[in-house]
Amino acid sequence: MIAQASRLNHVEEYYFSTKLKEVKALQDSGKPIINLGVGSPDLPPPPQVMLALQQALLNPDAHQYQPYRGTADFRRAIGEFYQNFYEVTLNTENEILPLMGSKEGITHISMAFLNDGDEVLIPNPGYPTYEAVSRLVGAKSVMYDLSEDTGWLPDFEELEKKDLRRVKLMWVNYPNMPTGAAAKKDLFERLITFGKKHSILIVNDNPYSFILNEEPQSILKYSDNMEGVMELNSLSKSFNMSGWRIGMLCGSEQLINSVLKVKTNMDSGMFLPLQAGAAMALRLPQEWFSDQNKIYLRRKEEVLKLASILGCSFSEDQTGMFLWCRVPTGTTSETFVDHLLQQYHIFAAPGFIFGSQGEGYIRFSLCATEENISKACKRLKA
Ligand SMILES: Cc1ncc(COP(=O)(O)O)c(C=O)c1O
Repeated sequence: MIAQASRLNHVEEYYFSTKLKEVKALQDSGKPIINLGVGSPDLPPPPQVMLALQQALLNPDAHQYQPYRGTADFRRAIGEFYQNFYEVTLNTENEILPLMGSKEGITHISMAFLNDGDEVLIPNPGYPTYEAVSRLVGAKSVMYDLSEDTGWLPDFEELEKKDLRRVKLMWVNYPNMPTGAAAKKDLFERLITFGKKHSILIVNDNPYSFILNEEPQSILKYSDNMEGVMELNSLSKSFNMSGWRIGMLCGSEQLINSVLKVKTNMDSGMFLPLQAGAAMALRLPQEWFSDQNKIYLRRKEEVLKLASILGCSFSEDQTGMFLWCRVPTGTTSETFVDHLLQQYHIFAAPGFIFGSQGEGYIRFSLCATEENISKACKRLKA
Protein backbone atom coordinates (compact mmCIF):
# COMPACT_ATOMS: atom_id res chain seq x y z
CA MET A 1 0.00 0.00 0.00
CA ILE A 2 1.57 3.27 -1.08
CA ALA A 3 0.46 6.13 1.16
CA GLN A 4 -0.53 9.34 -0.56
CA ALA A 5 1.31 12.55 0.30
CA SER A 6 0.01 14.24 3.42
CA ARG A 7 -0.73 17.40 1.43
CA LEU A 8 -3.70 15.49 -0.04
CA ASN A 9 -5.21 14.73 3.36
CA HIS A 10 -7.25 17.91 3.41
CA VAL A 11 -8.12 18.17 -0.28
CA GLU A 12 -11.23 16.55 -1.74
CA GLU A 13 -11.82 15.59 -5.35
CA TYR A 14 -13.44 18.54 -7.16
CA TYR A 15 -17.26 18.50 -6.61
CA PHE A 16 -18.09 18.44 -10.31
CA SER A 17 -15.61 15.65 -10.92
CA THR A 18 -17.69 13.34 -8.68
CA LYS A 19 -21.19 14.80 -9.15
CA LEU A 20 -21.02 14.66 -12.92
CA LYS A 21 -20.47 10.89 -12.67
CA GLU A 22 -23.82 10.65 -10.89
CA VAL A 23 -25.43 12.90 -13.52
CA LYS A 24 -23.96 10.74 -16.30
CA ALA A 25 -25.20 7.54 -14.66
CA LEU A 26 -28.73 8.98 -14.61
CA GLN A 27 -28.33 10.00 -18.25
CA ASP A 28 -27.06 6.53 -19.20
CA SER A 29 -30.10 5.00 -17.52
CA GLY A 30 -32.27 7.00 -19.93
CA LYS A 31 -33.13 10.04 -17.81
CA PRO A 32 -33.45 13.19 -19.96
CA ILE A 33 -31.02 15.35 -18.00
CA ILE A 34 -30.94 19.10 -18.55
CA ASN A 35 -27.57 20.29 -17.32
CA LEU A 36 -27.54 23.80 -15.88
CA GLY A 37 -24.70 22.95 -13.55
CA VAL A 38 -21.39 23.64 -15.21
CA GLY A 39 -20.02 26.79 -16.81
CA SER A 40 -18.66 25.14 -19.93
CA PRO A 41 -19.97 27.05 -22.98
CA ASP A 42 -21.96 24.83 -25.36
CA LEU A 43 -21.73 27.33 -28.24
CA PRO A 44 -18.93 26.89 -30.81
CA PRO A 45 -15.80 29.04 -30.93
CA PRO A 46 -15.69 31.60 -33.78
CA PRO A 47 -15.28 29.77 -37.14
CA GLN A 48 -12.21 31.82 -38.15
CA VAL A 49 -10.54 30.68 -34.93
CA MET A 50 -11.00 27.03 -35.84
CA LEU A 51 -9.63 27.76 -39.34
CA ALA A 52 -6.58 29.51 -37.89
CA LEU A 53 -5.94 26.44 -35.73
CA GLN A 54 -6.30 24.14 -38.75
CA GLN A 55 -3.94 26.22 -40.88
CA ALA A 56 -1.32 26.40 -38.15
CA LEU A 57 -1.39 22.61 -37.99
CA LEU A 58 0.26 22.53 -41.42
CA ASN A 59 3.12 24.78 -40.29
CA PRO A 60 6.21 22.52 -40.22
CA ASP A 61 7.20 24.04 -36.86
CA ALA A 62 3.83 23.25 -35.29
CA HIS A 63 4.91 19.97 -33.75
CA GLN A 64 8.00 21.11 -31.94
CA TYR A 65 8.29 22.52 -28.45
CA GLN A 66 7.08 26.10 -28.39
CA PRO A 67 8.52 29.08 -26.47
CA TYR A 68 7.96 28.99 -22.69
CA ARG A 69 6.54 32.49 -22.78
CA GLY A 70 4.20 31.66 -25.68
CA THR A 71 4.69 32.78 -29.28
CA ALA A 72 5.45 36.44 -29.90
CA ASP A 73 2.30 36.74 -32.01
CA PHE A 74 0.02 35.32 -29.29
CA ARG A 75 1.56 37.71 -26.75
CA ARG A 76 1.06 40.61 -29.18
CA ALA A 77 -2.60 39.56 -29.61
CA ILE A 78 -3.02 39.56 -25.81
CA GLY A 79 -1.44 43.02 -25.68
CA GLU A 80 -3.85 44.33 -28.36
CA PHE A 81 -6.81 42.73 -26.55
CA TYR A 82 -5.90 44.41 -23.25
CA GLN A 83 -5.37 47.74 -25.02
CA ASN A 84 -8.58 47.65 -27.06
CA PHE A 85 -10.99 46.27 -24.50
CA TYR A 86 -9.54 47.32 -21.12
CA GLU A 87 -7.39 50.35 -22.04
CA VAL A 88 -4.38 48.70 -20.43
CA THR A 89 -0.97 48.96 -22.09
CA LEU A 90 1.23 45.92 -21.57
CA ASN A 91 4.79 45.24 -22.63
CA THR A 92 4.25 42.15 -24.76
CA GLU A 93 7.83 40.96 -24.17
CA ASN A 94 7.68 40.61 -20.42
CA GLU A 95 4.32 41.55 -18.86
CA ILE A 96 2.27 38.70 -20.33
CA LEU A 97 2.42 34.98 -19.67
CA PRO A 98 0.16 32.68 -21.72
CA LEU A 99 -1.32 29.84 -19.68
CA MET A 100 -3.19 26.60 -20.20
CA GLY A 101 -6.32 28.15 -18.75
CA SER A 102 -6.50 30.40 -15.73
CA LYS A 103 -7.03 27.41 -13.41
CA GLU A 104 -3.40 26.34 -13.89
CA GLY A 105 -2.38 29.94 -13.20
CA ILE A 106 -3.88 29.71 -9.72
CA THR A 107 -1.47 26.88 -8.93
CA HIS A 108 1.54 28.57 -10.52
CA ILE A 109 0.90 31.85 -8.72
CA SER A 110 0.46 30.04 -5.40
CA MET A 111 3.69 28.10 -5.89
CA ALA A 112 5.54 31.25 -6.94
CA PHE A 113 4.56 33.45 -3.98
CA LEU A 114 3.41 31.34 -1.03
CA ASN A 115 5.65 29.73 1.55
CA ASP A 116 4.50 27.09 4.00
CA GLY A 117 2.33 28.81 6.60
CA ASP A 118 1.78 32.02 4.62
CA GLU A 119 -1.81 33.18 4.70
CA VAL A 120 -4.10 33.80 1.74
CA LEU A 121 -7.33 35.80 1.62
CA ILE A 122 -10.00 33.81 -0.21
CA PRO A 123 -13.54 34.91 -1.09
CA ASN A 124 -16.44 33.02 0.50
CA PRO A 125 -18.38 32.19 -1.65
CA GLY A 126 -15.79 31.77 -4.38
CA TYR A 127 -14.19 29.53 -6.97
CA PRO A 128 -13.19 26.40 -4.97
CA THR A 129 -9.75 26.10 -6.60
CA TYR A 130 -8.32 29.07 -4.63
CA GLU A 131 -8.72 27.23 -1.35
CA ALA A 132 -7.80 23.76 -2.64
CA VAL A 133 -4.55 25.01 -4.17
CA SER A 134 -3.67 27.04 -1.05
CA ARG A 135 -3.94 23.80 0.93
CA LEU A 136 -1.83 21.92 -1.60
CA VAL A 137 1.01 24.42 -1.26
CA GLY A 138 0.82 24.44 2.54
CA ALA A 139 -0.59 27.95 2.87
CA LYS A 140 -3.33 28.88 5.32
CA SER A 141 -6.67 30.03 3.89
CA VAL A 142 -8.22 33.06 5.54
CA MET A 143 -11.74 33.33 4.21
CA TYR A 144 -13.32 36.75 3.71
CA ASP A 145 -17.10 36.77 3.57
CA LEU A 146 -19.09 38.20 0.70
CA SER A 147 -22.80 38.60 1.32
CA GLU A 148 -25.97 39.72 -0.34
CA ASP A 149 -26.10 42.69 2.08
CA THR A 150 -22.90 44.18 0.65
CA GLY A 151 -23.77 43.30 -2.94
CA TRP A 152 -21.25 40.42 -2.73
CA LEU A 153 -18.37 42.89 -2.49
CA PRO A 154 -15.55 42.65 0.08
CA ASP A 155 -16.32 44.38 3.37
CA PHE A 156 -13.14 46.42 3.87
CA GLU A 157 -13.98 47.29 7.47
CA GLU A 158 -14.17 43.59 8.30
CA LEU A 159 -10.97 42.91 6.36
CA GLU A 160 -9.12 45.58 8.35
CA LYS A 161 -10.18 43.88 11.60
CA LYS A 162 -8.34 40.68 10.63
CA ASP A 163 -4.77 39.97 11.66
CA LEU A 164 -3.16 40.49 8.26
CA ARG A 165 0.49 40.22 9.26
CA ARG A 166 1.02 36.83 7.62
CA VAL A 167 -1.26 37.41 4.62
CA LYS A 168 0.74 37.42 1.41
CA LEU A 169 -1.89 37.10 -1.32
CA MET A 170 -5.56 37.93 -1.87
CA TRP A 171 -7.71 36.29 -4.55
CA VAL A 172 -10.42 38.46 -6.01
CA ASN A 173 -12.74 37.65 -8.86
CA TYR A 174 -14.76 40.48 -10.42
CA PRO A 175 -17.01 40.14 -12.32
CA ASN A 176 -17.76 37.61 -9.63
CA MET A 177 -18.50 33.93 -9.88
CA PRO A 178 -20.83 32.57 -8.50
CA THR A 179 -22.71 35.73 -7.45
CA GLY A 180 -22.65 37.78 -10.67
CA ALA A 181 -21.49 40.96 -8.88
CA ALA A 182 -19.96 43.43 -11.34
CA ALA A 183 -16.42 44.81 -11.42
CA LYS A 184 -16.28 48.52 -10.64
CA LYS A 185 -13.52 51.13 -10.75
CA ASP A 186 -13.89 52.11 -7.09
CA LEU A 187 -13.80 48.47 -5.98
CA PHE A 188 -10.53 47.89 -7.81
CA GLU A 189 -9.07 51.14 -6.46
CA ARG A 190 -9.94 50.14 -2.90
CA LEU A 191 -8.47 46.68 -3.39
CA ILE A 192 -5.22 48.14 -4.72
CA THR A 193 -4.96 50.57 -1.80
CA PHE A 194 -5.68 47.74 0.66
CA GLY A 195 -3.03 45.51 -0.95
CA LYS A 196 -0.42 48.27 -0.87
CA LYS A 197 -1.15 49.17 2.74
CA HIS A 198 -0.67 45.58 3.93
CA SER A 199 1.90 44.39 1.34
CA ILE A 200 -0.54 41.84 -0.04
CA LEU A 201 -0.39 40.69 -3.66
CA ILE A 202 -3.84 41.23 -5.18
CA VAL A 203 -4.73 38.82 -7.99
CA ASN A 204 -7.94 39.40 -9.93
CA ASP A 205 -9.31 36.36 -11.73
CA ASN A 206 -11.19 37.83 -14.68
CA PRO A 207 -12.70 35.21 -17.00
CA TYR A 208 -16.24 36.64 -17.13
CA SER A 209 -15.83 40.24 -18.20
CA PHE A 210 -17.47 39.87 -21.62
CA ILE A 211 -20.57 37.85 -20.71
CA LEU A 212 -23.70 39.95 -20.10
CA ASN A 213 -21.54 42.76 -18.84
CA GLU A 214 -21.76 46.25 -20.26
CA GLU A 215 -18.36 47.47 -19.17
CA PRO A 216 -15.42 45.04 -19.26
CA GLN A 217 -12.88 46.08 -16.64
CA SER A 218 -9.36 45.07 -15.73
CA ILE A 219 -7.89 45.76 -12.31
CA LEU A 220 -4.61 46.59 -14.05
CA LYS A 221 -6.10 49.80 -15.42
CA TYR A 222 -6.22 51.24 -11.91
CA SER A 223 -2.77 50.30 -10.62
CA ASP A 224 0.46 52.30 -10.86
CA ASN A 225 2.96 50.25 -12.86
CA MET A 226 1.06 47.10 -11.87
CA GLU A 227 2.87 47.09 -8.54
CA GLY A 228 1.53 44.31 -6.30
CA VAL A 229 -1.31 43.45 -8.70
CA MET A 230 -1.78 40.68 -11.26
CA GLU A 231 -4.67 39.53 -13.42
CA LEU A 232 -5.66 36.14 -14.77
CA ASN A 233 -7.78 36.01 -17.89
CA SER A 234 -9.08 33.24 -20.09
CA LEU A 235 -10.54 32.39 -23.47
CA SER A 236 -12.69 29.64 -21.95
CA LYS A 237 -15.87 31.63 -21.47
CA SER A 238 -15.46 34.70 -23.71
CA PHE A 239 -14.73 32.67 -26.85
CA ASN A 240 -16.35 29.31 -26.02
CA MET A 241 -12.95 27.66 -25.81
CA SER A 242 -12.97 26.00 -22.39
CA GLY A 243 -11.73 22.69 -23.82
CA TRP A 244 -8.78 24.35 -25.52
CA ARG A 245 -7.24 25.19 -22.17
CA ILE A 246 -5.90 28.61 -22.97
CA GLY A 247 -5.63 31.76 -20.91
CA MET A 248 -3.12 34.30 -19.67
CA LEU A 249 -1.55 36.06 -16.73
CA CYS A 250 -0.63 39.76 -16.89
CA GLY A 251 1.45 41.77 -14.45
CA SER A 252 4.77 43.49 -13.92
CA GLU A 253 7.93 41.93 -15.35
CA GLN A 254 9.19 41.08 -11.88
CA LEU A 255 5.99 39.25 -10.82
CA ILE A 256 5.63 37.48 -14.17
CA ASN A 257 9.25 36.28 -13.96
CA SER A 258 8.56 34.61 -10.61
CA VAL A 259 5.61 32.71 -12.07
CA LEU A 260 7.68 31.85 -15.14
CA LYS A 261 10.23 30.14 -12.88
CA VAL A 262 7.51 27.73 -11.76
CA LYS A 263 5.90 27.30 -15.15
CA THR A 264 9.09 26.57 -17.10
CA ASN A 265 9.65 23.65 -14.75
CA MET A 266 6.11 22.32 -15.20
CA ASP A 267 5.47 22.31 -18.97
CA SER A 268 7.30 22.86 -22.22
CA GLY A 269 5.18 25.41 -24.04
CA MET A 270 1.74 25.25 -25.62
CA PHE A 271 0.77 23.60 -28.91
CA LEU A 272 1.33 26.17 -31.68
CA PRO A 273 -2.09 25.78 -33.40
CA LEU A 274 -3.85 26.53 -30.08
CA GLN A 275 -1.89 29.75 -29.79
CA ALA A 276 -2.60 30.70 -33.42
CA GLY A 277 -6.33 30.10 -32.96
CA ALA A 278 -6.38 31.99 -29.67
CA ALA A 279 -4.54 34.96 -31.24
CA MET A 280 -7.24 35.09 -33.93
CA ALA A 281 -9.97 35.06 -31.25
CA LEU A 282 -8.42 37.90 -29.25
CA ARG A 283 -8.35 40.06 -32.39
CA LEU A 284 -12.10 39.69 -33.08
CA PRO A 285 -14.15 42.87 -33.04
CA GLN A 286 -16.68 43.84 -30.39
CA GLU A 287 -19.51 42.32 -32.47
CA TRP A 288 -18.42 38.84 -31.45
CA PHE A 289 -19.32 39.64 -27.85
CA SER A 290 -22.57 41.45 -28.70
CA ASP A 291 -23.74 38.49 -30.80
CA GLN A 292 -22.91 36.01 -28.02
CA ASN A 293 -24.67 38.19 -25.50
CA LYS A 294 -27.89 38.26 -27.51
CA ILE A 295 -28.01 34.48 -27.11
CA TYR A 296 -27.09 34.61 -23.41
CA LEU A 297 -29.72 37.26 -22.77
CA ARG A 298 -32.50 35.10 -24.21
CA ARG A 299 -31.25 32.15 -22.16
CA LYS A 300 -31.15 34.29 -19.05
CA GLU A 301 -34.78 35.28 -19.52
CA GLU A 302 -35.69 31.58 -19.56
CA VAL A 303 -33.55 30.84 -16.50
CA LEU A 304 -35.26 33.71 -14.65
CA LYS A 305 -38.60 32.03 -15.38
CA LEU A 306 -37.24 28.69 -14.19
CA ALA A 307 -35.96 30.19 -10.95
CA SER A 308 -39.30 31.90 -10.34
CA ILE A 309 -41.22 28.66 -10.88
CA LEU A 310 -38.95 27.08 -8.27
CA GLY A 311 -39.72 29.85 -5.78
CA CYS A 312 -36.11 31.12 -5.76
CA SER A 313 -35.36 34.80 -5.30
CA PHE A 314 -32.66 36.68 -7.18
CA SER A 315 -31.38 40.04 -8.31
CA GLU A 316 -31.73 40.58 -12.05
CA ASP A 317 -28.71 42.78 -12.59
CA GLN A 318 -26.14 40.00 -12.36
CA THR A 319 -23.28 39.79 -14.84
CA GLY A 320 -21.66 36.63 -16.23
CA MET A 321 -22.94 33.29 -17.43
CA PHE A 322 -24.84 32.19 -14.34
CA LEU A 323 -27.88 33.13 -12.31
CA TRP A 324 -27.25 33.06 -8.55
CA CYS A 325 -30.48 32.61 -6.58
CA ARG A 326 -31.59 32.13 -3.03
CA VAL A 327 -33.40 28.82 -2.50
CA PRO A 328 -36.77 28.87 -0.70
CA THR A 329 -36.50 28.86 3.09
CA GLY A 330 -36.57 25.54 4.88
CA THR A 331 -34.23 23.68 2.54
CA THR A 332 -30.47 23.44 2.02
CA SER A 333 -28.76 24.03 -1.31
CA GLU A 334 -27.71 20.37 -1.52
CA THR A 335 -31.18 18.99 -0.73
CA PHE A 336 -32.71 21.39 -3.21
CA VAL A 337 -30.27 20.43 -5.99
CA ASP A 338 -30.58 16.69 -5.33
CA HIS A 339 -34.36 16.93 -5.38
CA LEU A 340 -34.24 18.86 -8.66
CA LEU A 341 -31.93 16.26 -10.13
CA GLN A 342 -33.71 13.11 -8.94
CA GLN A 343 -37.27 14.34 -9.39
CA TYR A 344 -37.05 16.55 -12.46
CA HIS A 345 -33.68 15.57 -13.98
CA ILE A 346 -32.49 19.16 -13.94
CA PHE A 347 -28.96 19.69 -12.66
CA ALA A 348 -27.77 22.96 -11.09
CA ALA A 349 -24.84 23.76 -8.78
CA PRO A 350 -25.57 23.95 -5.04
CA GLY A 351 -24.22 27.10 -3.39
CA PHE A 352 -22.43 25.25 -0.57
CA ILE A 353 -19.67 24.08 -2.92
CA PHE A 354 -18.50 27.71 -3.17
CA GLY A 355 -18.14 28.05 0.62
CA SER A 356 -20.30 28.44 3.71
CA GLN A 357 -21.59 31.82 2.51
CA GLY A 358 -22.96 30.06 -0.55
CA GLU A 359 -25.25 27.89 1.56
CA GLY A 360 -28.89 28.76 0.88
CA TYR A 361 -28.16 29.58 -2.76
CA ILE A 362 -28.13 27.78 -6.09
CA ARG A 363 -26.27 28.59 -9.31
CA PHE A 364 -27.89 28.06 -12.70
CA SER A 365 -25.61 28.09 -15.73
CA LEU A 366 -26.59 29.71 -19.03
CA CYS A 367 -24.62 27.07 -20.94
CA ALA A 368 -27.69 25.24 -22.21
CA THR A 369 -29.90 26.01 -25.20
CA GLU A 370 -32.91 28.27 -24.80
CA GLU A 371 -35.01 25.31 -25.94
CA ASN A 372 -33.67 23.07 -23.16
CA ILE A 373 -34.13 25.72 -20.49
CA SER A 374 -37.68 26.26 -21.60
CA LYS A 375 -38.18 22.45 -21.60
CA ALA A 376 -36.99 22.49 -17.97
CA CYS A 377 -39.62 25.16 -17.17
CA LYS A 378 -42.36 23.06 -18.79
CA ARG A 379 -41.21 19.98 -16.91
CA LEU A 380 -41.50 21.81 -13.61
CA LYS A 381 -44.89 23.27 -14.41
CA ALA A 382 -46.22 19.86 -15.45
C1 LIG B 1 -13.75 32.18 -11.27
C2 LIG B 1 -13.12 31.21 -12.19
N1 LIG B 1 -11.80 31.26 -12.37
C3 LIG B 1 -11.17 30.40 -13.19
C4 LIG B 1 -11.87 29.44 -13.89
C5 LIG B 1 -11.11 28.49 -14.77
O1 LIG B 1 -11.02 28.96 -16.06
P1 LIG B 1 -10.08 28.30 -17.13
O2 LIG B 1 -10.93 27.49 -18.02
O3 LIG B 1 -9.43 29.46 -17.82
O4 LIG B 1 -9.05 27.48 -16.41
C6 LIG B 1 -13.25 29.34 -13.73
C7 LIG B 1 -13.98 28.28 -14.42
O5 LIG B 1 -15.06 27.89 -14.15
C8 LIG B 1 -13.89 30.26 -12.87
O6 LIG B 1 -15.21 30.23 -12.67
